[in-house]
Amino acid sequence: MTDARVLDDLAARLRSARAVAAMTGAGISAESGVPTFRGADGLWRTYSAADLATPEAFARDPDLVWQWYRWRQGIIGRAQPNAGHVALARFQSRLPGFTLITQNVDGLHQRAGSTDVIELHGNIWRARCARGCGVVRETRADPSGAGPAGGEGPLPVCPCGALLRPDIVWFGEALDPRHAGAATRAAEACEVFLAIGTSALVYPAAGLPLVAGRAGAVVVEINVDDTPLTPHADIVLRGTAAGLLPALEARL
Ligand code: APR
Repeated sequence: MTDARVLDDLAARLRSARAVAAMTGAGISAESGVPTFRGADGLWRTYSAADLATPEAFARDPDLVWQWYRWRQGIIGRAQPNAGHVALARFQSRLPGFTLITQNVDGLHQRAGSTDVIELHGNIWRARCARGCGVVRETRADPSGAGPAGGEGPLPVCPCGALLRPDIVWFGEALDPRHAGAATRAAEACEVFLAIGTSALVYPAAGLPLVAGRAGAVVVEINVDDTPLTPHADIVLRGTAAGLLPALEARL
């Protein structure tokens, strides 16, 4: 069946569904110039997650960890949402019962106009108390990257005296139960689950399309490449998020 026919059928399913859930990964932000994690230019090909994205790494060398997150803030601060992000924001206004779940920490969905985004892995523009006193701070920096984002800077300190750490879910850490619960409920309740630009390797997020499939939903994979989810997907659309999502949105 041609892609056009597949897109037409899928659009009809989305229009008639009572509830739709979409989960995005780094692939949707790739066309905004934000590096993915495991792609050819992926961050984990150059940097060690063990040295930068674990609580142990932060305890060992908070300066290094903050430098790396400020460097990423510099890249993300200069990035713009792309047509894929914009299309999903329109899905939200056109499809009642639409839930957007993301593994991304870049905030580009919100900049494209999406609201109530379930951020499973946190947000790079927030910091929270490393000791867990409850303080959470916005760290939005100067988009030119000249400010703390992208450059050096003193380590941010919590009013309680402990360090502030990036508000990111690191390897070995559990998801916030409020977000995990909301995402699981959306996966169980949806009639169509869209898995967009994710390698489907990192759990528990990678389990959500399977939860949806077991609950009877039609599982759709939108990705430029095969993933471990591909054999479990009912519909596979090979191509970029910024190409396929607007084409789908135009058919709603
Ligand atoms: N459009 C659609 N898919 C794309 C595009 C694109 N333009 N570019 C790349 N992809 C796909 C790749 O084929 C790959 O399957 O996006 C996926 C990106 O995979 P990862 O880099 O592994 O990113 P992600 O799945 O989001 O990683 C999950 O791992 O490192 C942790 O916490 C981090 O949230 C992250 C989690």
